[in-house]
Amino acid sequence: MQRQWWQASVGYQIWPKSFNDSNGDGMGDIPGILEKLDYLQQLGVDLLWLSPIYPSPLADEGYDISDYCGVDPRFGTMADLERLIAETKRRGMRLLLDLVVNHCSDEHPWFQKALADPEGPYGQYFYFRRGKNGAPPCNWRGYFGAGVWSPVPGRADLYYLHLFHEKQPDLNWSNPALRREIYQMVNWWLDKGIAGFRVDAIVNIGKPDSFRDYPADRPDGLADCCNMLAEPSAKAHLAEYLTELRDNTFRPHGAFTVGEVFDTDPAELAAFIGPDGYFSSMFDFAATCCGKSPKGWWAARRPSPTDYRDCCFSSQKAAQGVGFLSNVIENHDEPRGASHYLPLGFEEQPRAQKALAAVTLLLRGLPFLYQGQELGMTNKPFASIHEVDDVNTKGEYAACLAAGLRADDALEVIAHYSRDNARTPVQWSAQANAGFTAGTPWMPVNPRYRSVNAEAQQADPASALNFYKKLISLRKDPAYKETLVWGDFEPLYTEREGLAAFWRRADKKLLVLSNLSDEAMLLPLPGPVRAVVLNSRQLPPELEQQALILAPWQALVLEME
Ligand code: GLC
Repeated sequence: MQRQWWQASVGYQIWPKSFNDSNGDGMGDIPGILEKLDYLQQLGVDLLWLSPIYPSPLADEGYDISDYCGVDPRFGTMADLERLIAETKRRGMRLLLDLVVNHCSDEHPWFQKALADPEGPYGQYFYFRRGKNGAPPCNWRGYFGAGVWSPVPGRADLYYLHLFHEKQPDLNWSNPALRREIYQMVNWWLDKGIAGFRVDAIVNIGKPDSFRDYPADRPDGLADCCNMLAEPSAKAHLAEYLTELRDNTFRPHGAFTVGEVFDTDPAELAAFIGPDGYFSSMFDFAATCCGKSPKGWWAARRPSPTDYRDCCFSSQKAAQGVGFLSNVIENHDEPRGASHYLPLGFEEQPRAQKALAAVTLLLRGLPFLYQGQELGMTNKPFASIHEVDDVNTKGEYAACLAAGLRADDALEVIAHYSRDNARTPVQWSAQANAGFTAGTPWMPVNPRYRSVNAEAQQADPASALNFYKKLISLRKDPAYKETLVWGDFEPLYTEREGLAAFWRRADKKLLVLSNLSDEAMLLPLPGPVRAVVLNSRQLPPELEQQALILAPWQALVLEME
């Protein structure tokens, strides 16, 4: 596989509104990110992905964009962003923006012009359709729980399509004029000096040639809009648009791209991330999807540490020899990784968080950390549905009630899965508002900030933060980089519950062992140990001739003969 500059990178996602507030308005901003570049550099991450910073009415926290080439004044100015591009470059880091082009905001001038004249040229930028016998054109349910068609104001029997919120109309990629505008915008940003994009919700741009009903799958009589992704015409269009997008923008710029792609058939991986793929990389969401139900969060089952391991391992095997996945345990759409993948009662324990970190950082592929993950930030408490900000959580709460759950049980369900868990302010210090803002934070800080914060962890050699630093510097260590970045992956001891064990092999033979359980484990060793390269616990590993005892939650990297 051809070597690329980004393969040895470690990614870090910034969700700007909650990262760091420089001006006391309670919301994070770009100057706030600039203040923390030293922190990020010391952590060792070098590929920074910013969730949307564009002007937006915030119906979906910035994923509803009203101007693709601007910076929302809440986050700063274009000059601030240019400074961020320059400052990251100066430090050997690269900046990625979020490319959200399945939909825009209903307040974008394109949609405003389309509403004014649905039959005119801008009407062709969206999907306007007539209803069917007084009902919407088809029975799809969108990703946030409501129907995907909303009536066009003032026009009897005309609807527009939105797979997400009604304030996020879908863009019509079958229109070459729209595609040209998008390529122009993408190139404009790349010419400004960003290194590339995280590409949002992108599989949805391929729409089938006709919008037809699917069998209803919930009491609301609607069907999951995801069904359309499997239609041959949708798949064919997706391939056509992604090829054209790549050839007209990313490829000529040598840009890095990471796609938000769910549910890819292993047979299609090469098309997405192979040497001639649409993207450089895509997130591995196998564990993210594990236990989820098409019925909604109320019917979901939380994955065990063994489920997590099995999901990662099967993705690793599928991607080996094809391309580079991007490995995550959390992002702005998911519960905190420690709260989701560690068993109840262990989510707050740094030793358990480190065992999980060792797996996600040492698998083959690009690790992407989400802000605060390196501190072991966990889910937040929920006292009432009225304090929820996230639009998706509100839809899932309604689905819980529709399925017959009592209000307090519904609250318990959404408390685990809500996207708000990931969106509390980053915990910088034990000072007021976790040092995030001098004003009132737009969302309350997680009360655990007094003990869990960056300042305290920097001073503690045994902290989660310092262990993340060790893992990242191990990946970059010239002695081990070849093996950890480009080496192959091979699992072992997969019959053992709660153990993630795998080889990474190239010029060195590294054995990664992570005990994702609270029980000590006796393991046979597949050969003589040359060196203990990393140990997550202060306990020295108990090495016998041909066996070792792995303490509860202990992660080890052993260099083998
Ligand atoms: C992606 C984003 C999510 C957003 C959705 C619609 O899934 O990660 O936050 O709500 O797309 O843009």
